Amino acid sequence: MLNIVVCVSGGGTNLQAIIDGIESGRIRNTKIKAVISNNAGAYALKRAEAKNIPAICIAPKSFAGREAFNKAFLDKMEELAPDLIVLAGFLVILPEKMIAAYRNRIINIHPSLIPSFCGTGFYGLKVHEEALKRGVKVTGATVHYVDEGTDTGAIIAQKAVDVLPGDTPRLLQKRVMEQAEWVILPKAIDEIASKGKGNEA
Ligand code: GRF
Repeated sequence: MLNIVVCVSGGGTNLQAIIDGIESGRIRNTKIKAVISNNAGAYALKRAEAKNIPAICIAPKSFAGREAFNKAFLDKMEELAPDLIVLAGFLVILPEKMIAAYRNRIINIHPSLIPSFCGTGFYGLKVHEEALKRGVKVTGATVHYVDEGTDTGAIIAQKAVDVLPGDTPRLLQKRVMEQAEWVILPKAIDEIASKGKGNEA
C-alpha cells in the first residue's frame, strides 16, 4: 500500500481528483494518510473531512518564525511517515530538510508545460495570464518531482491542452484542470503505487 500525504492551500480540486481516483479504483494500492494545509480556510480541508481523512492545518503565521513552522511541519510529516508527499496547490516553500529526507518522494502538479510559465511567481491564474499574453496555442499541466528549486525537479508526466479563441485566464485554468491536472496527477500516483511499495500484496 502506498501511503500518501497531500499538501494543499486552496480549493482542493486536485485533492478531490485523488480521492475520487482511489474510490473508483483508477488509483490502486493507495491510501491518503492525511491532508495538510497552511491555510485554515482552505476548502480542501473540508473535502478531506467529508471523507474522514485527517485534515491538519499547520499555519506559518501561528508560529514565532519560519524555523518554528518548518520544525512543526517536519515533525508532523515524520509522524505520518508517508511513502509519498503530493503537493496539490501547496503555496508554501518546503523546508530543505524535508526535500532531502524525501528525495524523489515528493511530487507536484503545475498548471503549465514546464519549462514554460513556471518558476518563482508562476502559480494560480498568473500562469494562464502569461500563457495568454504570450499567445501560445497549446498549454497544459506537468507532474514533476520536487527538488530544492521552484518547478525544477524531474518531469514525470505532462498533458497538453489547446488554447481556444476568446479564452480568459479563468476559462483556460478550468480547462487545464479538467483536461490535464485531474488526469495526470491521479495517473502518476497510480503508477508510483504500482511500481514501488504498492506492489506488495
Ligand atoms: C492548481 O491549478 C494546480 O495546478 C496549482 O494550484 C492549483 C490548485 O488548485 N498548483 P486546487 O486547490 O487543486 O483546486
